[in-house]
Amino acid sequence: MGDELTQLNHKERVDALFSSIAARYDLVNDIQSAGLHRLWKRNLSRRIGLVESERALDICCGTGDLTFRLAKRGGTVLGLDLNMSMLTVARRRLAKRVVRGEQLCQADALSLPCANATFDAVTIGYGLRNLADIHGGLSEIYRVLKPGGRLAILDFGKPPSRAVRAAYYQYLRWALPVFGWLFCGSASAYSYILGSLEKYPAQIGVKEMLLDIGFSSVSVTNIMLGTMSLHLARR
Ligand SMILES: C[S@@+](CC[C@H](N)C(=O)[O-])C[C@H]1O[C@@H](n2cnc3c(N)ncnc32)[C@H](O)[C@@H]1O
Repeated sequence: MGDELTQLNHKERVDALFSSIAARYDLVNDIQSAGLHRLWKRNLSRRIGLVESERALDICCGTGDLTFRLAKRGGTVLGLDLNMSMLTVARRRLAKRVVRGEQLCQADALSLPCANATFDAVTIGYGLRNLADIHGGLSEIYRVLKPGGRLAILDFGKPPSRAVRAAYYQYLRWALPVFGWLFCGSASAYSYILGSLEKYPAQIGVKEMLLDIGFSSVSVTNIMLGTMSLHLARR
């Protein structure tokens, strides 16, 4: 798998990677975060505070965790993802839901199939880090948000403390590939997280990009000593 992946361009590589882990993605998420990702997503959804009359876009929705959480609070939510295998899991979960304010679509976050100023809120959970062009992805979000619309970005972070960062990187380097190997049969599928985090501008860099693009009320919250981060902003 690893050798095949290096032959592909970034988007194809990410797509192949998520195809290989889609079936076990939710399980591994629970294991690697000890279930805490649910709390972080709940917090994001509360902070976005979608109401009945509003429309939200959940970019890189994957298996739909955030999409469903947002819709539970009211409003309509479009979940968008590049990868068909992740969307298939999301569709299966959607079919079991009683109240359905959600829709799903396959598309590239770098070229959103949405008109300007369409959404009251946009969310992106553990997705921004995967984009080939992060500034381009944030600019697309700016384009589709209504003036005053809210943005929330949840992702891995870079802990400000060097000691915590070193310990955390060791966890990502050694423990995550073991989970990937045990539960998805592929260590390389989970070793990508550290590589993508090292390249990710994280707390400070993403905040600077948001300000550069024109977002206002930009804030960053460190979660668990900065191992995770939540950016909030308004168009
Ligand atoms: C780590 S998963 C996050 C899923 C979900 N948001 C969550 O929090 O559990 C990242 C998702 O981003 C999607 N993705 C990566 N690059 C993308 C792109 N260019 N456009 C749309 N989706 C993309 C992947 O297919 C994958 O489903």
